[in-house]
Amino acid sequence: MNKENTVKIKFYNGETIPLELHKARVVQKLNLVPVERRLEALHEGGFNTFRLTTQDVFLDMLTDSGTNAMSDRQLAAMMHADDAYAGSQSFFRLQQAVEEVLKKKYFLPVHQGRAAENVLAKAYITKNAGLIPMNYHFTTALAHITQYGGRIVELLYDEAYCIASAHPFKGNMHIEKLEAVIREHGRETIPFIRMEASTNLIGGQPFSVQNLREVRQIADRYGLRVVLDASLLGENAWLVIRREPEFANATMAEVIAEITGLSDIVYFSARKLSSSRGGGICTNDLTIYRELEALIPLFEGFLTYGGMSVREIEAMAVGLYETLDETMICQSPQFIAWLVDSLTAKGVPMVTPPGVLGAHVDAMTMCAHIPQTQYPAGALAAAFYLISGVRGMERGSVSSQRDASGNETYADMELLRLAVPRRVFTLSQLKYVEDRLVWLHENRRLIGGLKFVYEPPVLRFFMGGLAPVSDWPEQLIAKFKADFGDSL
Ligand code: F0G
Repeated sequence: MNKENTVKIKFYNGETIPLELHKARVVQKLNLVPVERRLEALHEGGFNTFRLTTQDVFLDMLTDSGTNAMSDRQLAAMMHADDAYAGSQSFFRLQQAVEEVLKKKYFLPVHQGRAAENVLAKAYITKNAGLIPMNYHFTTALAHITQYGGRIVELLYDEAYCIASAHPFKGNMHIEKLEAVIREHGRETIPFIRMEASTNLIGGQPFSVQNLREVRQIADRYGLRVVLDASLLGENAWLVIRREPEFANATMAEVIAEITGLSDIVYFSARKLSSSRGGGICTNDLTIYRELEALIPLFEGFLTYGGMSVREIEAMAVGLYETLDETMICQSPQFIAWLVDSLTAKGVPMVTPPGVLGAHVDAMTMCAHIPQTQYPAGALAAAFYLISGVRGMERGSVSSQRDASGNETYADMELLRLAVPRRVFTLSQLKYVEDRLVWLHENRRLIGGLKFVYEPPVLRFFMGGLAPVSDWPEQLIAKFKADFGDSL
């Protein structure tokens, strides 16, 4: 296990395993249904793990969105929520948390992260001035930008595309390319530069503060705004403390303030950032606030709730403060690092260094026999659910969108993401994940491809339906039964 990810508690036996700094006080019973039922469930859900129901799922590693464990303090806060359409005290508590944690005084609430993306795209993107340079896209950010006639350009360094790497900051923006893009297209065609904390789709990889400073310098040189997607800011900051020597002795509060201080607009999914629901946009610039303000009542709700319930608003306020607690924020990245390191040691191709949000399996390598036209990451997600009951998420070409002419745009990476929501799973559950994935890796040739049978035009990965191209699921089950006998 990477030293950087271990807590400062030594085991006498020398083992380096993550140690939980919390206790479970509310628990939920799980089901592990037999493999035959899992095959039926896959057929019913179009071989798309989004369409499985939790009754058929053992460990839900689909996402951390809205599934991080809440703290006792968050639950307690929900009880003193102030119900009011306008002027709720819950809102003012949240506004204060935003000001104290993210250091921005103007706050616009929205119902979740993509709602913030919609508001920003609606306010700033036009056909003629809609080019958004970014470190990398996120599915919903891209969908909203293109919806309003804009387009994106992704500016990562080459190292970011290397699956196995030791680079500490694969989410860094390529500074020279950023300047070249601005010069080539003209600053007037660029409404803002988007930086995503812990770049989701390339394996939850952070950017460094130094890199953001350089982005800021370029932005200032050309008079451009920097928009920060802070949905995974807590973990990005935690990794900055571990990986960027200048910040080795900094606190979470200091790193977060440094990062948000370099950004003109900060938006986030509170489903991730604060282990709650909801989302928000904040800024210190009154002009920006005014440009966006009118869109909140139009799309979200009145300015003191933005589509959220007051209970969610209370949980979000407390969750924002808890983001500053290293003993909370460290749990998920430490468990991810444990899983990535153990699987890598056993030959399973994983994205390294371990990032945040989840462990990412490289389906392009593991399923090299499946062409990208048959969605190797989607096939791996379905196969892994079949043999384990564990639900991961496809992050590859199924999650990509077709271009304007309707052609497939194949993803740079074909990943199976196994999310590790904060403080939800135990180490023995992760050992089960490791065990079944090692078995699947040894039997990977039995996994076959998928084809679309129902393809929605927008964000197809959510509700799309696929089918296996052969009877490979039955063959995989036969091998599973031969090796595991009656075991579930
Ligand atoms: N930005 C990032 C970086 C995200 O990871 C997400 C959501 C969003 C924006 C959109 O926020 O879901 O609240 O509307 N990511 C989830 C995931 C869905 O599973 O990675 P939302």
